[in-house]
This record gives sequence, structure tokens and C-alpha cells, in this order.
Amino acid sequence: MKLNLDQIRQDTPNCLDKLYFNNAGASLMPKPVVAKIQEYLIEEEKYGGYAAFDRNSDAIQQFYNETAQMIDAAPHNIAFAHSATDAYAKALSAIDFREGDVLLTTADDYVTNHMQFLSLQKRFGIVIKKVQTQSNGDIDFEDFERIIKEKKPKLIAVTHIPTNSGLVQDVEKVSEICTRENIIFLLDACQSVGQLPVSVAKIKCDFMSVTGRKFLRGPRGTGFLYISDAMLEQGSHPLFIDGAGAIWRSENSFELIEKAKRFQYWELPYALVLGLKEAILYQKNIGIENIQHYNDEVMAYLRQNIASIPGVATFDRGSVTSNILTFTKENKPILDLKAALLKKDVYCSISARESGLIDFDKKGIPGVVRISPHYYNTIAEVDQLLNHINEL
Ligand SMILES: Cc1ncc(COP(=O)(O)O)c(C=O)c1O
Repeated sequence: MKLNLDQIRQDTPNCLDKLYFNNAGASLMPKPVVAKIQEYLIEEEKYGGYAAFDRNSDAIQQFYNETAQMIDAAPHNIAFAHSATDAYAKALSAIDFREGDVLLTTADDYVTNHMQFLSLQKRFGIVIKKVQTQSNGDIDFEDFERIIKEKKPKLIAVTHIPTNSGLVQDVEKVSEICTRENIIFLLDACQSVGQLPVSVAKIKCDFMSVTGRKFLRGPRGTGFLYISDAMLEQGSHPLFIDGAGAIWRSENSFELIEKAKRFQYWELPYALVLGLKEAILYQKNIGIENIQHYNDEVMAYLRQNIASIPGVATFDRGSVTSNILTFTKENKPILDLKAALLKKDVYCSISARESGLIDFDKKGIPGVVRISPHYYNTIAEVDQLLNHINEL
């Protein structure tokens, strides 16, 4: 099925007066998403927050149903989160690390994840191991298997689509190994959900963290965490829970609620919860396979044509790539490139060394400009972008 681009662009009127290519940062929300948030805020203004919740509790519950359906889970596996980092940190805090426990990850994982691992290392004495990458950027699975055999990790943590290299990691293969070896698997799907079909029935992870504002096109301050049944049944819970996640049964004990909601706090921004649900419904209506197919065409066109612009170097890695493309231009600092593009109404972002230290040091560059189209962008817009880059 072809996308109804006219309708999609009408639903995103603010894409018409600019070239918006920063969906890996924060996408433009479709109109129904903004309308839903405004509608709910007006109810809060009218009735107060608690009564507004009571009047909308069924619609709010639907957030869990829609989110679960999108990733082939059940509603009780979903917790709302305020960001991918919020979801990720709660998942990490649920793991009972002891001194000497091994955490296996990749060199391409997200900056914050790496810093959280370092924090765990400092506080609990865990050991961080990074799997080697093949020359094309893919995970070296021989090394992966070797580390697992020798070190028996307690946790494997992999980012599906790293923030700065376009790479799509083979997380199905990671999940097969984790299942076989009975190792907890924490997946950072912050950049992939909304861009690709992501199914926890296929990628059998224990935890998956997602943000709302990027390829899902939801509002800022939203995200979710998926928690597997196995983890819920084992009594997994974040280190710090509140009175909605557990019941204070006696002076010295609490009883966890059965659902993944034990990973969220009682106080939630319900306008944003409904906004994210609306974004998920909007995406469902278009169809994630259609989105992926369209995006593949746009990205193939962009990748093919940007490479021939004099002075431009691109930094894709991996045998499978995504909607993230990074580049530099000879003798032009990345901040100047971003500023010059903004003058032409091109919205994109930069990734500096600190956001992907290992990757950037390997590439020997201090940073890149990041272009991340989504399905409301057109080939004509990509042509305009290419012209602007050529003229810089
Ligand atoms: C791969 C990846 N993981 C996690 C995050 C953090 O997401 P959030 O800002 O929603 O916490 C980002 C943000 O860019 C990201 O690219």
C-alpha cells in the first residue's frame, strides 16, 4: 500500500514551511496528537486532575492496550515512562547486581547506558564487557559466544539502533542466545520503535525501553518500558517503587502489584499518556510495514545521492541501516554546518564525540551532522536538502 502523503502532510502542517529532518531527535507531532493533549488539559482545567482522570480512565487504560498491541505484548507487560532513559534506568535498577557480576554490551550502545553501567561498576563492582564488532560495524557473534561461555554474564544490554551510526543491530540473534543461555536481555529500542516493526514475540527480551518523541511522533516527556512475564513472575521491580507499584502490607513489608505498572509511579502526566496513545494509533492507521517500506526508499535515495557531493563523508555502519544518516563536510565544523542549514530552514542535529565516544574515536572524528527523515518527508525535500548541503 502506498502512503497517503498528502493527508499525512496535512496532518503535519508544520512540515510544510521547513525541511524537517530531525526525527531521531524529536519528530513533529501529527495534529491529532496535539489536539488530544490540549483536550485533556482543558478537562484538567475544568474538573481538576483527579476528576479528569476518573472521567478518562478507560481511554487512559487503552494506552496500555495499544502500546502492547504495537509490540506484540499484553497490556500487563507495559509501564508508562517519562523517557527512554527513565525506562532503562528503572529496568537496570531491578537487576540484583553483586560484585563481580558481568554485564555484556556493545561499543555502540547509547551514551547514557554506558554511563549507567559505569555507575553500577563504581557502586557495586560489576564487570563491563564489550563485544567486538566486525569491520562493517555488525556484532561479532563469535566473540559474543566466547564472552558468554567464559564470563557467564548476568545481563546483556544492546541498543537496537544506536543514535549516531545508522546501524541496526541483529537483536533477534542476541535474543536467541539470551534465551538459550537464560541470560537477562535489556533492549534499548528508543530509535527503532516507530521506524521498524518491533515485536517482543520475535525479539524475546526481558526489558525494552522506548521513547515517545522520536519515530513514534508522540510528545516529549513520554516513553514506555516493556517487562516480560518471566521478569514479572520472578518479582522483578525497580529499586525504588511507590504506593501504586506495591501495597504496604505491614510495617516491614510490601507486596508488589502483579503488573508492569509496578515500574511506573502513581503520578503521571495523563495528557501526555493520551498524546502518546494517539501517536501510536496514528502510526497503526498508516501501518508500520508501509512506513518502513517508504522510509527505505527515501533513505536509499538520500544515501545514494549524498555520497556524490564533493567534500561530504558519510559514516554509516552495519549490514542493515536505518533512518539515521550522519555526515561531515571537508573543512566545515559541524556546528557551522548545522547553523548554515538552519538558515535554509533545514532542521537536523549534530552528534558530538561525547554522545558516541567509542564509535567516534574509532572513526577519528569529533562529531557528525545527523539527518533523520521520516515518512512525512518527500523525495523532493531530500533533493532540496542535497542542494543545500552541496552549496554549504
Ligand atoms: C539509542 C538511544 N537510546 C536512548 C536514548 C535516550 O532517550 P531519552 O532522551 O528519551 O531518554 C536516545 C536518545 O537519543 C537514543 O538515541
